[in-house]
Amino acid sequence: MKEDKPIQHNHQTRRNISKFTNPVIYLLLISVSYMLGYLSSSSTHNTTTTNTTTAIQLTPPSSSTKTTTNTASSTSSIPTDSLDHFRFSARCGKAVSPELIRQTILYKLYNGTSPYNEFPPPHISSLIKQARIKGWGSKGAVFENLIRKVKPTTIIEVGTFLGASAIHMAELTRSLGLKTQILCVDDFRGWAGFRDQRFKDIQMVNGDIMLMYQFMQNVVYSNVTELILPIPFSTQSVLDKFCEWGVLGDLVEVDAGHDFHSAWSDINRAYKLLRPGGVMFGHDYFTSADERGVRRAVNLFARVNGFRVQVDGQHWVIDST
Ligand SMILES: C[S@@+](CC[C@H](N)C(=O)[O-])C[C@H]1O[C@@H](n2cnc3c(N)ncnc32)[C@H](O)[C@@H]1O
Repeated sequence: MKEDKPIQHNHQTRRNISKFTNPVIYLLLISVSYMLGYLSSSSTHNTTTTNTTTAIQLTPPSSSTKTTTNTASSTSSIPTDSLDHFRFSARCGKAVSPELIRQTILYKLYNGTSPYNEFPPPHISSLIKQARIKGWGSKGAVFENLIRKVKPTTIIEVGTFLGASAIHMAELTRSLGLKTQILCVDDFRGWAGFRDQRFKDIQMVNGDIMLMYQFMQNVVYSNVTELILPIPFSTQSVLDKFCEWGVLGDLVEVDAGHDFHSAWSDINRAYKLLRPGGVMFGHDYFTSADERGVRRAVNLFARVNGFRVQVDGQHWVIDST
């Protein structure tokens, strides 16, 4: 019986409408409903605009030392859970002094011995080339510009592949007479399908790709084993551990995953590792990889933390000073 009610009501309505046969009243009714429709549509539009504006105006998490100048008032209306993506809550331990960085890493990750000892082991030497060094923009002017400017004692490279940019930085620091340790964070898995074409020659044994061994061989070949250490784990886990251990850098290069979420996570975690006056930078601000999200992540990071993005060739640079 309950379901009959609306039908009865509709019949009643139709009866009422049929009374308005006068054309003036009819026209009046049409105008009123048109105006009501217009008003309700513009109010929907306004709501959307307001939401978009609010999303753009998110402010940095309270732990950040930098603040934007024009956004503080807008967060009060945002539910706190909307800010979760902006929170990277790791708290860094006391900074390890630069001269102890290498020793700290050897102790924490390599049982206190150099991974280059007796490298390459006999079962690997036939699987790698004497040198196979290939990167992208790995010798861009940005490296020399920043190394000359910052004179880093520690460089953290997030994304290393075969070591082209790391080896270039090691050679630069050596030629400038600096004592710099370069920590190369990479899981040394490349990316799904990377052996399809140009890197077919990187050998695989039982599904295990020889990327880390080839990288290490490149470092040995370039005679920079004292300057470079591989850190063969996921960027997320290493950057959080470095923060906990107090392993910080004067220069941090971010060049690992190029999709927005990877870049966003790496950039936020890497920023925590900067020593005072440190500089963070990365590739693919203007290349096709930027469309996957590098530039979007860099710009968002800069905006919510009140930094200016500088550009050096195809690299982005964020100077924390
Ligand atoms: C573009 S390459 C780095 C190139 C290098 N900087 C150069 O210029 O020679 C990106 C590297 O990031 C690494 N990578 C990507 N996502 C990673 C992740 N989540 N954890 C660890 N390494 C990752 C890949 O294994 C790959 O070697």
